[in-house]
Amino acid sequence: MQVIKYMFQPHGDDRGQLVALEEFKDIPFKIKRVYYMYDTGEGVRRGYHAHKNLEQILICIHGTCKILLDNGKEKKVVPLEKPYEGLYVANNMWREMFDFSPDAVLLVLASEAYDESDYIRNYDDFLEFIKESE
Ligand code: TYD
Repeated sequence: MQVIKYMFQPHGDDRGQLVALEEFKDIPFKIKRVYYMYDTGEGVRRGYHAHKNLEQILICIHGTCKILLDNGKEKKVVPLEKPYEGLYVANNMWREMFDFSPDAVLLVLASEAYDESDYIRNYDDFLEFIKESE
């Protein structure tokens, strides 16, 4: 499984760092939605779903966390530890987010608006969906 991590360009000077992200330039899709997770308690593991169409970029803009990616055949755990790195998560990819540091803020850039019908929340359904789309 290919893990696609984007290294964004921080614009740093003596005032601090700034990262700017533009659709189709730094991000490979039109950004239709932005959301973020914080105050994730100790031992929390969330996600547990895949999407039929949605593409996302995950950026841990503060603190650290880990992302499990699972394409139905292979699993990979990707640590997110820098505010200038973004993990691309394609559609048809099961994901779980865990090991959040207490100060973690996980920002998600998404290619579509929120649509519950795009979610696959059952792992066996996910495996079935993968098989059918091959
Ligand atoms: P949920 O899908 O459970 O989060 P996770 O990414 O960890 O699986 O979402 C938590 C709640 O937030 C749920 O009630 C749905 C809501 N939600 C929105 O209203 N809009 C969104 O864009 C997202 C991602 C979630």
